[in-house]
Amino acid sequence: MSTLNRRDFLKGAGAIMVGGGLPLSLVELAFADKAQNFTFAYISDSHIQHIKGNKFVRNWDRGLIRAVAEANLMDPKPDFIMYGGDLAQLGTKAEIDHGLELLSPLSQKINFVIGEHDYYLDLGEYWEKKVSPLHYSFDHKGVHFVVLNSILTYDDWINKWPSPEERMNQMAGLDNPNGSPFMVGEKQREWLKKDLSKVAKDTPVVVFSHSPLQKIYKGWNFWTEDAEDVQALLKPFNKVTVLYGHVHQIQYNQIGNISFHSAMATAWPWPYPQTYAQVETHLPKLTVQMNRADPFFERDATGWQMIDVYSGNVALNYSLPENEGRSVAFNPKTGQPEDKKYQAQQGRTLPQTHY
Ligand SMILES: [Fe+2]
Ligand SMILES: [Fe+2]
Repeated sequence: MSTLNRRDFLKGAGAIMVGGGLPLSLVELAFADKAQNFTFAYISDSHIQHIKGNKFVRNWDRGLIRAVAEANLMDPKPDFIMYGGDLAQLGTKAEIDHGLELLSPLSQKINFVIGEHDYYLDLGEYWEKKVSPLHYSFDHKGVHFVVLNSILTYDDWINKWPSPEERMNQMAGLDNPNGSPFMVGEKQREWLKKDLSKVAKDTPVVVFSHSPLQKIYKGWNFWTEDAEDVQALLKPFNKVTVLYGHVHQIQYNQIGNISFHSAMATAWPWPYPQTYAQVETHLPKLTVQMNRADPFFERDATGWQMIDVYSGNVALNYSLPENEGRSVAFNPKTGQPEDKKYQAQQGRTLPQTHY
C-alpha cells in the first residue's frame, strides 16, 4: 500500500503541470530575411464528446480550453492557428458547435483540417457549412500551405452501414477490424496537382493532413492508402513538411524530400502500437517510448511541442509530463530527423508562453 497521501499526490500533480503538458504546438518558419519570420500555433484532436443535454466530457473540454488559453498567451503572437482535426468525437452538431464555442476566444484566424470523427456521421456536410472547406490551399509570407482531407474511404464501405450513427461508431474505434483505410482519393489528388502547378519549386510547402500521409500501422489506421501517390506530387519541391494529427503521439520521419511530424492531442495519448507494420523506408526506429497515461492524471502523456521550421527543416521540442523532455531535429548529414537534446539553434530563441 502506498504511503502517498492525497495532499502529496496533488502537490506532485501540480509540479507535473508546471513542468509541461501544454496541448499546443508552435511552428516557426524562419527565413534569411528576419522581417519575414512568422509563427503559427497548432492544436489537434480534442474529441469533444456529448453526453446529453448541455453536458460534455469534462476532460476533453479542459484540454481544448487550455490549448486556447496558451495560444492567446503566446509571445510573439502566432500569425494564425491550425486545427488538426477530430474536434468532435462522434461528429454531431452539438459536439462541433461546442468545440467551436471553446475555440472562439482565440484572437487569430483558425484554419481547419477535418478528422474522421468529424466526418463519418454526415460525410462532412455540417463541417463544410459551419466550419471550413474540406480541402484548400493558401499562401502566407512566402510559404504555400495545403490542407487535405486525408480520411476519405471506399464508397462500398460508406454505403454498407444501416445508419450514419453506425458508420460513425465503426470508424471511431482505434483497432476495429470493421473500419476502412483512409485515403486522399483521386479527385483530390487531381486538385492538388493543379494547385501545386502554380507554385515555384523553391517555395517551402507545408501540407496539413489528419492521418499521416505515410503508411505506419494499418491495424490502427495510422495509414493513408494512397500515401505514395500524394508523396509523388510533393516530390518536385525542395522543401516539404507534412504535419498531421490523428495518432495522439510523437512520430517523425523523412521520406525523400518530405519531413513528417505529428502533433500530440489535447484529449488523450495513444500508446505506440506493439508492433508497427514497418516497411524499411517508412518510419525510422522509434526511440521515444511514451509512458502510458496514468488514469488518475488526465493530462499524463499528452504534451506540447515547439516546432521550428528553420530554413525549411523542422525541429520539434517536446515537453512531456513525467518523462524527459526530448528534441527531434533534422540532421543534414543523415538527411532525416533524429532525436537529440535541445540545443539553441544559431543563437535563436524560440517563442515562449508567458504566465
Ligand atoms: Fe484523434
Ligand atoms: Fe483521427
